[in-house]
Amino acid sequence: MSEAIKKPVFIAVDGIDGVGKSTQIERLAAHLAGRGHDVIQVRDPGSTPVGARLREILLDSDLDLHRRTEAMLFMASRCEMIEKSIRPALEQGTTVISDRFLLANVVYQSVGGDVTPEQIWELGSLANDDLAPDMTLLLDMPAEAAMKRIEGPGDRMERRGTEYMESVRQSFLSQLHRSSERTVVINADQDPGDVAKDIIRAVDEFLAT
Ligand code: TMP
Repeated sequence: MSEAIKKPVFIAVDGIDGVGKSTQIERLAAHLAGRGHDVIQVRDPGSTPVGARLREILLDSDLDLHRRTEAMLFMASRCEMIEKSIRPALEQGTTVISDRFLLANVVYQSVGGDVTPEQIWELGSLANDDLAPDMTLLLDMPAEAAMKRIEGPGDRMERRGTEYMESVRQSFLSQLHRSSERTVVINADQDPGDVAKDIIRAVDEFLAT
């Protein structure tokens, strides 16, 4: 295969609020582009016209939403993003990096809510028509440190506080193995340059298999 034509991969990057996903995703996208991949980045929730509107509703902490409604709206936004954005890109040979995916739905909406991780995984396989990332990178650090990095009043999830976020973190760690065939925990509580090195090492190892 020529260096210019690369098999597309679908990588999800996730973790609690404040771990620094956005910066790392930019760096990873640049790295993959440098290796000859055509790359797009998507953001869950969002990345489609419907997803952008749902994102506004979902993150607006002044809107009262039942927790099950919240779970379903995140699911709907992702369904739209898969069918309008991710699947067409992969079919055209484009690598996709998604800022969050179904794993986030499982952990954020099950912690302190009335739906179980199992129920959200099941609903997710219907909504996603079984599309899963090839690889999921979990950026991990203690919630207390991550929450200190958040500026401003915080969105619906961030306002639930450090205890909620630490439970989300633990749930991320225990549910991660169900997200993809290849999953890697990255220590996000270090210099961003070192985080980037760990991510690139993990992704390059995966691409070499
Ligand atoms: P972001 O800060 O990564 O853009 O994500 C927006 C917020 O939405 C973040 O607090 C995590 C939360 N979230 C869920 O609660 N459920 C989901 O399914 C997704 C994708 C995100």
